[in-house]
Formats: sequence, C-alpha cells, structure tokens
Amino acid sequence: MKGIDLVSAQLKNAQRVLAFTGAGISEESGLATFRGAGGLWSGHRVEDVATPQAFARDPELVWQFYLKRRADVANAKPNTAHQVIAGWEKQFRFAGVVTQNVDGLHAAAGSTRIQELHGSIWKSRCLACGNIQPDDALEYEKIKTCERCQGSLRPHIVWFGENLETEVMDNALSWMREADIIFVVGTSGVVEPAASLVRSAKRFGAFIVEVNIEETALTSAADVSLFGKSVEVFSRFPKSF
Ligand code: OAD
Repeated sequence: MKGIDLVSAQLKNAQRVLAFTGAGISEESGLATFRGAGGLWSGHRVEDVATPQAFARDPELVWQFYLKRRADVANAKPNTAHQVIAGWEKQFRFAGVVTQNVDGLHAAAGSTRIQELHGSIWKSRCLACGNIQPDDALEYEKIKTCERCQGSLRPHIVWFGENLETEVMDNALSWMREADIIFVVGTSGVVEPAASLVRSAKRFGAFIVEVNIEETALTSAADVSLFGKSVEVFSRFPKSF
C-alpha cells in the first residue's frame, strides 16, 4: 500500500501518537456514519433532533432518537482499528485518542486516554445543575432524574450551536499540538471546531496521516493519505515498534 512504509517509519521514531477519529472508524462495527448514503441523519432532519431548540420543543422525540442510537451502540463491538489504537498506549511514551464519536468504542477497545469532543451517548446531563452522570437507559420511561438535584436530564451530547466543553477542548488542543504523528481516521472533517484541531496540530509540526475511504476536507492537510476502510488499513501496520 502506497505510503504505509513511510507511516511505519514515522511511527518507529514517534514518542507521542494520537488518533483523531470520526464516525467512519465505527462504520465497520455496524454503526452508520452521519453524511454517507443511508447516514444517520437521513431519516431525521438534523434540526429536529440535534439542537437545544429541538429538545426544548419536543424532548421525547429527541430522547427517542438518542435511545435508538444507544440501542445500536449497545450491540456494536470495537473493531481492529479501535484495537490497534488502544494497543499504542503500551508501545509509545504517550498515545491518546481525540474523538468526535459518542459511541464509547475506543474505551471498549481498551483506550484509557480519550477526549470525547462531542460528549457520550452513555452519559446524561442535568438541565438544572449541569451534573453529568452515567446513563444506560434504553427506554424513555427508564430515564432517571438528576442524582444530585432531581432535575430533568438531557443527552450529554454537544448539539449544533453549542460550545464544546472547555476542559475537553483544552486537553484535546494540547495533545494535538504536542503530538509527533496524528492519524485522522474516518472523518469528513467538515464540523468545527474539531477539524481546526487537525490544522492547528499540523502548524505545530505533527505528521498527519489520513485514513479514509475517500478524499475529505482534511486531505490537503495530510502528509500521507491511506485510502481504504480503516480495519483494512490498520491491519497492515506493524504490530510492534
Ligand atoms: P461523517 O459522517 O461526516 O464522515 C464519516 C467519514 O468516514 C467520511 O469521510 C467517510 O468517507 C468515512 N468512512 C466511512 N466508512 C469508513 C470506513 N469503513 N473506514 C474509513 N473511513 C470511512 O462523520 P464525522 O466526520 O464523524 O456531531 O462527523 C462529525 C460530526 O458531525 C459528528 O461527530 C456529529 C455530526 O454532526 C455531533 O453529533 C455533535
């Protein structure tokens, strides 16, 4: 595969390795991406489900949408790409994941250093006090109230028009800027500020490797693009360095 030897050589010398991931890495775990054919938003207009206004208008509709996603995610298992990335924590001085995904599959694969830019499908947040708590309810009737103040809960997902959590963003930015090499995997690179993190890391000297089935908005920022499904591409990397 073109570029794989160059990437393997870069990995040999790397101390700090990051994966920056999007929905495409979980596609081979059976989870739909957002913008592909048959993508997650196809049946639902974004503004009907993924905005604070939509939740204010019809919280049950929004919850039902995310409960369906929870059910899909509950049946999904991490794939080889998630697993190879998790294994890097044992092989490099520092390895981490900055993800736009809310599915928890990096943690399920064994990664422990993860910044979830867009929140987590397995958490809820209190509308009254802001407390974030684990939540694995799969039915609307089973959604609890806040364990601190009994307030109503919303999905702990960053919706369109909302800011990313400051601490998560700060951590992600410093990991990205300190990285020697970053694998940008399965993201269309069109959602901000996530995509800008990659451009910023490049300015700070990171070697950028894109893994995707097609060209994206971030291809021009990549030093090497490895085109293919992420499981196939990650299966070709050396097992140790
Ligand atoms: P997208 O659906 O926009 O992009 C998925 C990318 O994965 C595309 O570039 C595909 O070409 C690629 N892809 C699909 N299958 C693949 C495979 N098997 N191997 C490798 N690549 C594959 O998803 P994201 O970029 O993650 O935000 O979308 C970013 C954000 O937009 C999401 O986090 C979500 C959405 O609004 C929130 O929920 C807040």
